[in-house]
Amino acid sequence: MKRLAGEKATEHIENGMILGLGTGSTVEYTLKKLGELVKNGLKIKGIPTSMHTMRIAKDNNIPLTTLEDNPKIDLTIDGADEVDSDLNLIKGGGGALTREKIIAFNSRKVIIVIDETKVVKALGIDFPLPVEVLKYGYQSTKKTLEGFDCEVKLRTIVNEPFITDNTNYILDCDFDRITEPVQLEREINSTLGVVENGLFIDLVDEVIVGSKQGIKTLDK
Ligand code: 5RP
Repeated sequence: MKRLAGEKATEHIENGMILGLGTGSTVEYTLKKLGELVKNGLKIKGIPTSMHTMRIAKDNNIPLTTLEDNPKIDLTIDGADEVDSDLNLIKGGGGALTREKIIAFNSRKVIIVIDETKVVKALGIDFPLPVEVLKYGYQSTKKTLEGFDCEVKLRTIVNEPFITDNTNYILDCDFDRITEPVQLEREINSTLGVVENGLFIDLVDEVIVGSKQGIKTLDK
């Protein structure tokens, strides 16, 4: 299902485009397919949203550039952890949410690729909201975030704190459900110590869903 969605998105890529390259296992299928298209003569330049994606892009001989050199992105293809019926998202399962949001914000078009398990009635029921925070004072930031009526855990990997590409921590905030995502996104981002949160509001144009029945497209 991930492969179906990831590969389908490449049909939107045109010669000469500047592309935002998302992060995650679904987008990896996009990157592999894109590598084949480049090998067959497609001319594009990609801006990776993480060090991990940069490595995969290099392995697939995808030409890369930076947001500084190309501040206007034609199309970004990225994954998501949850998608609601307004095409708002939770992202950050891979910890790349801040760069992903900056790239999405600077894109003319954003396509999200997911498998059908990611389509939800309300955000936050099954997936905790990732929040990137400064290491400095993170315990105080954690306490403030608990005030939003959620359970907050420092993300770890093999018993050590997970470190983002921006050298920060991730606090995963487990809500019963997120009822007001627009408001919550703003309020969390005005919390001292928060760098960015994984709520993507009104940033997406189209969602390609790989399902057992084939491909479905959700748009506004
Ligand atoms: C990384 C992300 C990913 O796009 C998200 O976690 C989905 O990943 P996958 O395609 O592996 O399920 O937001 O920060």
